[in-house]
Amino acid sequence: MSGKLVIGNWKMNTRADSAQALASALLDHAATNREGVGIAAPAVYLAALAQTLKGSRLALSAQDVSRFAADGAYTGETSAAMLADIGCRYALVGHSERRQYFGEDNAALLQKMRNAIAAGVTPVLCVGETLEQREAGQYLQIIAAQLAILPELTDGDYVIAYEPVWAIGTGKVATLEQIAEIHAFIKNWCLQNIGSSDKIRVLYGGSVKAENAEAILATENVDGALVGGASLDADSFRVVCQAAGKLI
Ligand code: PGA
Repeated sequence: MSGKLVIGNWKMNTRADSAQALASALLDHAATNREGVGIAAPAVYLAALAQTLKGSRLALSAQDVSRFAADGAYTGETSAAMLADIGCRYALVGHSERRQYFGEDNAALLQKMRNAIAAGVTPVLCVGETLEQREAGQYLQIIAAQLAILPELTDGDYVIAYEPVWAIGTGKVATLEQIAEIHAFIKNWCLQNIGSSDKIRVLYGGSVKAENAEAILATENVDGALVGGASLDADSFRVVCQAAGKLI
């Protein structure tokens, strides 16, 4: 593991033209056109973006992947093999918006993780508590329950992203102490339950932007960032990536 990883999660935003324009702007700068930077674009634009990014070091990521492994009658689904086929390096798995709006549970997420790994796509498992769960003092149990699928994976690399639900798209950022607490907890949990933690990157996500990126990325056990809103603006995303590039 070397350097920080920053992935921009575009969510359900952009159009064909604006997606290409944003990708081109990122390719134009050394801070974003490098190893350790990725964009998670809408599925419908991934293939065209793969062509645009070809030969660059900027990585392409999907925002989701099917829990079904093999080709077949699964209308609307995009398999891990399809993502690999067009050159996706990463796939987000279990983003809180997927858990909330699509009822994704641990059983489905484990299948997604397995499928991605088997296809050679690195899954980014997103975990995080709601405000209610935090205020009830249950956040560590919730995160542990979300991590519980990881010991089932016997091989392959994956990334974990800690994203407190209450800090996503709200402008509310977790304090550095809160971030440090959870990242240490996740690393410790991995050490105890998987037997190793140094190979697993743990990203922070939730209102990461130009103004706070450096402090968050410099926090202990933070190996990178998952950036939503600020990744839709090339200048803001570049500042986040520049901050990441300065740190090891
Ligand atoms: P945000 O989203 O940066 O807009 O808060 C982060 C995410 O959901 O990945």
